[in-house]
Amino acid sequence: MSDQPFQPSSAPVPPPPSCQEPPPLELVTEKLAFGGQAIARLDRFVYFVDDALPGETVRAVVYKRKKNFAFARAVEILKASPDRVPPTCPWMGRCGGCALRHCAPAAQLRLKRDILVEALHALPAAQALVAPVVPSPHTDDYRNKMVYSFGETLDGELRLGLHRRGSYIHILPADDCLLQSAASREIVRRTVALANRLHIGAFHEIKKTAGLRTLMVREARHTGQRLVELLATADFPGLAEAFSAEMQGLADTVYVSIDHNIRGTPTASDRRLIRGPGYLVETLGGLRFRVGPDTFFQSNTEQAEALFRAVAEEAVRDGSIPAVALDLFTGTGPIALRLASASPATRVYGVESWAPSVEAARLNAAENHIANVSFQVADVNRALPPGLPSHADLVVVDPPRPGLSNAAIDWILRMTPADILYVSCNPSTLARDLATIAAKAPAYVPLAVRPFDLFPHTYHLETLVHLRLVPFS
Ligand SMILES: C[S@@+](CC[C@H](N)C(=O)[O-])C[C@H]1O[C@@H](n2cnc3c(N)ncnc32)[C@H](O)[C@@H]1O
Repeated sequence: MSDQPFQPSSAPVPPPPSCQEPPPLELVTEKLAFGGQAIARLDRFVYFVDDALPGETVRAVVYKRKKNFAFARAVEILKASPDRVPPTCPWMGRCGGCALRHCAPAAQLRLKRDILVEALHALPAAQALVAPVVPSPHTDDYRNKMVYSFGETLDGELRLGLHRRGSYIHILPADDCLLQSAASREIVRRTVALANRLHIGAFHEIKKTAGLRTLMVREARHTGQRLVELLATADFPGLAEAFSAEMQGLADTVYVSIDHNIRGTPTASDRRLIRGPGYLVETLGGLRFRVGPDTFFQSNTEQAEALFRAVAEEAVRDGSIPAVALDLFTGTGPIALRLASASPATRVYGVESWAPSVEAARLNAAENHIANVSFQVADVNRALPPGLPSHADLVVVDPPRPGLSNAAIDWILRMTPADILYVSCNPSTLARDLATIAAKAPAYVPLAVRPFDLFPHTYHLETLVHLRLVPFS
């Protein structure tokens, strides 16, 4: 593998000479796209430029061309943005993890807000309400979950880390990745050393030779508990015992699981608990949560607390206490449990399609002695799930990136909730869904649009939107 650490912009990286490769273009960038690339226009053609920032002049090499636009990579910064900072990670520009590490943290927040404002261009009332982005308390060492992949260099060196940008086989080492804690970095180092000692190599994604596939590290930031899962495509004798011993003092729960799904994405098809309770316990907003190896839990614990605090505030805005509240896409129930514990008079229903998360949500309710909540497994994007009431006062939705289906929007609107809280991780689908709601039910007006940065140095952004039903007089 020929990956060399990224050279800062003061040391331009010329593209390798090739008879097929077009010469670099000089581009002037305008704004940031959701995806982390800077957008430039030349001869009425649009370029999405990696490693550039808005307001820069760069020399860029095109690596993918479509009919009306192309993807390019900045190889030399001719005029730098005042927001440009030296990247603190040696793999910047190579790693698929951070797209904005060359941008000052305060400017990242401004640029993310610009993306949200632009996404809402067809909804002027919502656009006018966009608040400043709430910064994450920490811009490094903020992730409570990492899944690292194994790979090997051409000369056989074992690697454990993150995928090289755009590649599913090339792995960059993660023992110095700044998004994770020092303990997580130590777990990576020890796992690589152990695999080398035991002469166990990486699973090869193309040749399908047996080996190690992924390592998951989950950490409870408030209780200090850690859960690790080593995933291999075969049962290597002695590996489980040796890995468990290596993780003494570093992880409370250890899984060494087998993945029989070698043609698909990594999956623990035969999950084997080697040591510990099998889950970790984290606290959030004063409540206790069980987090297992395969349950969703927000990756930035401290910032998730800020987001859920805002959800709870909006839920009782102007003193209204909902009698019936739905938490759709509830996961392990952090929003539902918070709403239920804040107001014993509120009956809360959580809906989630992943059964293990619903099971964890029920356990979380019991463990926190919260009785005014129930959880059920259902696909929100289909029809109204059976067992839900026909009316709700408050509906909270927190969908994954594709947002809401039209069917979901229809059945939610038929419930005529007084308030809808939309927690979004994708400004484009948020804007699309708000426009659909506005077209189907114009009596819903936005009261607040509050963005939160849960993933510093990446392009991701979470947004909380409050819609209220204001009947026409
Ligand atoms: C962004 S997470 C939010 C989870 C939770 N609100 C939290 O903050 O921890 C989205 C959740 O929606 C679930 N999900 C995805 N598609 C779904 C669907 N069609 N119906 C119900 N739940 C779904 C996922 O399993 C995941 O737990």
